[in-house]
Amino acid sequence: MRVPEWRPALTAAHDAALDWLEHLSERSVRPDVDYDAMYEALAEPMPEEGLPPEQVISELAAAVKPGLMAMNHGRFFGWVIGGAMPAGVAADWLVAAWDQNTAMAEPTPGVSTLEAVTAEWLLQLLDLPRTSSVAFVTGAQVANLVCLVAARDLVLADVGWDVEGDGLVGAPPVSVLVGEFVHHTVGKAVRILGLGESRMVEVAADDNARMRPEALAEALSAVTGPAIVCAQAGEIATGGIDPLAAIADVVDARRGHAPTWLHIDGAIGLFGRASGVLAPKFAGAERADSWCTDAHKWLNTPYDCGIAIVRDREAHHRAMTLHASYLPQPGAARDPIDWNPEMSRRARATAVYATLRSLGREGVAEIVERDCEMARLLADGVRAIPGAEVCNEVELNQVLVRLHDPAGQDDDAHTRATLSRLQASGVAYPSGTTFRCQAAIRFSVANWATDADDVKQTVSALALAHCGAA
Ligand SMILES: Cc1ncc(COP(=O)(O)O)c(C=O)c1O
Repeated sequence: MRVPEWRPALTAAHDAALDWLEHLSERSVRPDVDYDAMYEALAEPMPEEGLPPEQVISELAAAVKPGLMAMNHGRFFGWVIGGAMPAGVAADWLVAAWDQNTAMAEPTPGVSTLEAVTAEWLLQLLDLPRTSSVAFVTGAQVANLVCLVAARDLVLADVGWDVEGDGLVGAPPVSVLVGEFVHHTVGKAVRILGLGESRMVEVAADDNARMRPEALAEALSAVTGPAIVCAQAGEIATGGIDPLAAIADVVDARRGHAPTWLHIDGAIGLFGRASGVLAPKFAGAERADSWCTDAHKWLNTPYDCGIAIVRDREAHHRAMTLHASYLPQPGAARDPIDWNPEMSRRARATAVYATLRSLGREGVAEIVERDCEMARLLADGVRAIPGAEVCNEVELNQVLVRLHDPAGQDDDAHTRATLSRLQASGVAYPSGTTFRCQAAIRFSVANWATDADDVKQTVSALALAHCGAA
């Protein structure tokens, strides 16, 4: 076997990574240059000849750095994004070095066992039925999909239709009921599943974007046959948590006479169940049939890792398993290939294992509780700015802000302009949205590092941007 010299390239990567991570807090949150400038700098014809690996890494790191968003900065509040932590990042380096195709347990007992143990830890941490099955996928989009494949297949099997064998042509209709503020990835999953995104039944929500259980009961009573209800634990704009126990009651009442599955999209909020303080907000979640969440959001692992959890292991297994004569034959061990849509895959759970091992339950609880506290502090600071309004009930880690135009003209345009100025300042980076037809700025506090000083600097920068200064 030819043995390359590993050290120079890995040392170059190590130096570049530390240069990035150790100076993160001093740099602008936003990238210094945009896509066009990056393209100008990077685009060149496919090289004929190669270069020494260490030179490739040093040059690549230097060239890309101006275009990097400091997503793991304590004042990055865009979308819903956690910041990677030391154990997770270091574990991810090992994943690349080990280069294990983590599909089957027999050839990869090290990382496959790590994955099985991580699955057990997650069920304990999130206090979900301990016999549930778990899949580690790229993100909540795919986790929603995996859960909903199992859901579709089982509710159809319950009325005698084998969708896995016979497909959907001629199948009984399946009703999918979602909250008015369902995340778009659920709609996309429903589309991929062939259940028809535009056929989803939308259930009315309250002021904080939480599904109304009485509206769900009414909507469910209007559909016959198999049904899938998708609830949400953490709405993208408000952080609103659906009343999960009341929703589970409504679903349970229907289960007796028609196949009904309850799925919870907990991409944002489910890790709140790790905290004794926050867990009561999610009471009833354990009664669902499937759950999706993201490790790369509130657990603060490096990208990427979503998690799909299904109560009925058999349904999950049937939906995802794959066997071929050239692969090791299934044994007693848990084979990752049985639970994911992918065949070949990286040892994605390794960074989750390392993050959980380094934080412990107490550390996870501390992060989610602190982020909620920082969100409340941010909301208090915003309310003290004349002309600024917090539009949501801050029940979790999301703060939705609207700025009134001092000239009394156009609040939407003023809110969007304030967002642009704030992002351009480099001090903090929230993202924008339209909520109930009005422009708003969304602050998502999902980073382990965000502290009171970050909040103070963000509120000052927002006040300045509101006055028209970047
Ligand atoms: C509620 C919800 N579901 C699903 C997703 C999709 O997550 P991912 O980007 O990890 O696929 C998000 C992303 O923010 C979300 O907020």
